[in-house]
Amino acid sequence: MEKKSAVRPAAVALDVVDFAWPDGQQVFAGLSLTVAPGEFVAILGPSGCGKTTLLNLLSGFEQPDRGSVRINDAAVRPDMPELGYVFQSPQLFPWLSALENVRFGLRMANRLPPAAQYARARDYLALVGLAGAEAKLPHQLSGGMQQRVSLARTLALEPALLLMDEPFAALDAITRNSMNEETLRLWSALGQTTLFITHDIDEAVFLADRVVVLGIAPAGIARIAEIDLPRPRSMRTTRSLPRFIACRNALMEQINLAVQAA
Ligand SMILES: Nc1ncnc2c1ncn2[C@@H]1O[C@H](COP(=O)(O)OP(=O)(O)OP(=O)(O)O)[C@@H](O)[C@H]1O
Ligand SMILES: [Mg+2]
Repeated sequence: MEKKSAVRPAAVALDVVDFAWPDGQQVFAGLSLTVAPGEFVAILGPSGCGKTTLLNLLSGFEQPDRGSVRINDAAVRPDMPELGYVFQSPQLFPWLSALENVRFGLRMANRLPPAAQYARARDYLALVGLAGAEAKLPHQLSGGMQQRVSLARTLALEPALLLMDEPFAALDAITRNSMNEETLRLWSALGQTTLFITHDIDEAVFLADRVVVLGIAPAGIARIAEIDLPRPRSMRTTRSLPRFIACRNALMEQINLAVQAA
């Protein structure tokens, strides 16, 4: 499907952010990161290093103790229309059809009349490859299809900044590979700035323009790797490129060092 929308991708800036939990555990100290409009950044790091915390700061669910988090030069708030969030599990309403699940966010946002909400929900279901599944309930869909519905629900809001927290971690390897290709196809069609969290080095390198490696908290950013692999990328061709292999091996070493240093 062609470009659905004129998404104006957002610029993101974290500026010397400190963040500690109320129990005193410091997760970030002096963390700075900027993401350009339309960029695809993967955040990689060991369990507990603060990846989800970082997304929660970026979505305004958590506030920094010091420093600032800005989206398009405004202090982030959770109700900003620019923000879209995709969770690890699909989190669909089991009693609503696929179409109604996708429409749900549009209904809540209340930006469109009902007929236009349905039209847009149908378009985005088709965009994620689920034309024909509108009437199905979540339990009638596979795990991968449920995650597509969830993705369509977030994309239908046409977010300028898409935050994804290990969205495909629960899927089998084959479905996960096809969802990764799907993610890139949707990103090149819609153009939104994307921050994608993963444990998986291959996934990060395959998807991203830049990979940000976090060390064990409160180490912050251990390394930023530019991924200059050609686009469009596909599982079949990209992952066998010598440059892909060199890049993921270098990152693997970096992560091992970060874990050992902790
Ligand atoms: N609500 C909370 N209250 C207190 N501490 C928390 C809370 N949530 C997370 N933490 C702590 O903050 C640190 C970072 O957690 P976070 O969930 O961001 O890690 P993560 O990198 O997303 O890990 P994973 O890969 O396992 O999802 C961890 O040490 C965790 O124990
Ligand atoms: Mg997490």
